[in-house]
Amino acid sequence: MNDIGFGIDIGGSGIKGARVNLDNGEFVGDRIKIKTPQPATPDAVADTVAEILDRAGWNGPVGITLPSVIRGQVATTAANIDPSWVGTDVHHLFSRYLGEREVSVLNDADAAGLAEVAFGNPVTKEGAVIFLTFGTGIGSALITDGVLFPNTELGHMFVGKKEAEAKASSAAKDRDGISFKKWAKRVSAVLQEYERLLNPSAFVVGGGISRDHERWVPLLKATAPVVPATLRNRAGIVGAAMAVRAHLAP
Ligand code: BGC
Repeated sequence: MNDIGFGIDIGGSGIKGARVNLDNGEFVGDRIKIKTPQPATPDAVADTVAEILDRAGWNGPVGITLPSVIRGQVATTAANIDPSWVGTDVHHLFSRYLGEREVSVLNDADAAGLAEVAFGNPVTKEGAVIFLTFGTGIGSALITDGVLFPNTELGHMFVGKKEAEAKASSAAKDRDGISFKKWAKRVSAVLQEYERLLNPSAFVVGGGISRDHERWVPLLKATAPVVPATLRNRAGIVGAAMAVRAHLAP
């Protein structure tokens, strides 16, 4: 009998959920995706999460990611979602919409990092790793020998005059209409700044754009090796399902 959990990944454009086989990190059945309601207020988003669970017919524990710092199950930042998330007690919020079941909420990049440790690129398990997701923003997870240091926000570190994510997220690439070559230069500048302060043993790079890793990862210039994540957009959902199974509630 497989061990099955459920994860939900809340992003700026879509809210996605799926049953996850916790033995191998694969989805069981189809992923359900609903457009993120606008404005993406806590109540509107929680209502959409309830709809996904309803459609899936899932009544068990659920792990949920947010692009926010989560401390004591309270969201304390909201960079790419509605500002009204700041100060929201997410445990309380989701209990109101999802009833009496266990819920764990954690940062989206932290969830993706945990999934990558368990089921992704083996490089993620060893040494001092900086795991990054490139999407609307830049998400980060710091992982030492497979153990997460939660809630890092390296996407907001200044690199030159701009925050790293304003310069080198994949949304910044689209916004500025630049080639992979030009974008890789910006990403390299970000990685070099991270190295200056953190000296990781490796970078693992994920997010949707890692699907095209052959086009940009070989162009990156950093001292530590840079390797692509293997779970890509699946990672958030898988990590969320893992978190609630481990009773993690940052
Ligand atoms: C947020 C992070 C998040 C990242 C990726 C950033 O803007 O501050 O919490 O992990 O985007 O979604």
